[in-house]
Amino acid sequence: MDKSESANKKKPKKAINLSWGGRFNEPIDEFVKRFSASLFFDKRLYNEDILGSIAHAQMLEHVGILTEGETEKIIKGLEHIKKDIVNNNFNWLLELEDVHMNIEAALIQRIGSVGKKLHTGRSRNDQVATDLRLWLRNQIDSINKLLFNLQRGIIELALSHSATIMPGFTHLQIAQPVTLGHHLLAWNEMLERDYGRLTDCRERLNQCPLGAAALAGTTFPIDRKFTASKLGFTKPTKNSLDSVSDRDFAMEFCSVASIIMSHLSRMAEELVLWTSAQFDFVTLPDRFCTGSSIMPQKKNPDVPELVRGKSGRITGNLIALLTIMKSQPLAYNKDNQEDKEPLFDTVDTLSDCLRAFSDMIPYMKIKKNNMLEASAKGFSTATDLADYLVNKNVPFREAHEIVGKSVAFAIEQGLELPQLSLFQMKGFSNKIEEDVFDILTAKGSVESRNHFGGTSPAVVAEAANRAMITITNR
Ligand code: ARG
Repeated sequence: MDKSESANKKKPKKAINLSWGGRFNEPIDEFVKRFSASLFFDKRLYNEDILGSIAHAQMLEHVGILTEGETEKIIKGLEHIKKDIVNNNFNWLLELEDVHMNIEAALIQRIGSVGKKLHTGRSRNDQVATDLRLWLRNQIDSINKLLFNLQRGIIELALSHSATIMPGFTHLQIAQPVTLGHHLLAWNEMLERDYGRLTDCRERLNQCPLGAAALAGTTFPIDRKFTASKLGFTKPTKNSLDSVSDRDFAMEFCSVASIIMSHLSRMAEELVLWTSAQFDFVTLPDRFCTGSSIMPQKKNPDVPELVRGKSGRITGNLIALLTIMKSQPLAYNKDNQEDKEPLFDTVDTLSDCLRAFSDMIPYMKIKKNNMLEASAKGFSTATDLADYLVNKNVPFREAHEIVGKSVAFAIEQGLELPQLSLFQMKGFSNKIEEDVFDILTAKGSVESRNHFGGTSPAVVAEAANRAMITITNR
């Protein structure tokens, strides 16, 4: 035995971590304690951690490892701890690193050595994987409710504006008239697919890693199906190595969240445009805007702008997670601890953005006249004129040419198409008759697009009703 070893032997062991300190000779470095702790952020998993521990204890009893009395003691102790945490009456200790060890140590302190049996056949590796799945499953359920509220607001607005005419754009140039209801239902389609993606993600994550222990499973006769069903999982995960190292569910959720945020950001961008003096299509309630400290006339669309900005943050979180995971060998590595902050931030930010939009969108003031006026600009019914000629037996390419020439002429005259006289129009094609003026109006244009998926008021009202039934029947 060399000198340093014997010196170490004499060192007091008191400040060494209770959960894993057995083989250590000196306490953790103060800086490393803070550097390696996750307690600051993983505290919020306390509820899931306790639920997981209760189910694990019940399973241990079920297979005869714990007695009924021991299990009861453990469960009561855990419930008591939960109450204290909820009441802000729990002494979190940084030296205990994370939420799991804090709760376990508190249990042992409160109920004595029976508490030490809880960790039988379990590791923090399968514990954290379970906690995180349980937590995210709950969060997805809450996010789905927020998504429902937003969709309902959008669909209701679409229903009341099924006949409100606005310009439709391509390349942000006025293209053809559409109805506002149709535009809003396009937003809803994006969100409806997002709901599908969240549901898929929830379904795939709903499996229980408990029993994988550190990585290789356990020697105890555990019943993984029992634990899985107690926690509302559909089944246990299939491979112990994968169970403790898989964070696909977090990456998948963050991918879905990034897609949702890119949808919200596109909506935000349109709201920013629509509230500008140049468009002047809508006004947002004052309570969702701010002013300028120097320009007294300003009313800035801060909420949509922030939502647009926060989409960058959520995409950043996804990239962080993908990068954290991409080089990890099997099985658990401490890198995994870095999964939580991006995931938590994604859930919080996404929830806030959904809430902001569902509170705001139903209260926007729609400036119907401005929308209608804008839709008559930019030769938006030129395609209708071409279709009109096709119906009079002019081949489409020829019709396209005729209309192109009429548009050029109108531009020269400083007029819109419906402002040309019949005589002037006949100069381009003698097939044009008095009835052309009906189809040159924005109203005629939208009404004639009355096929499934089209923009006519009747079709849009039907689509809005169907969309409402879809979200209500979830
Ligand atoms: N705090 C850890 C995490 O978030 C828990 C698992 C720790 N496991 C371990 N073997 N160090 O990932």
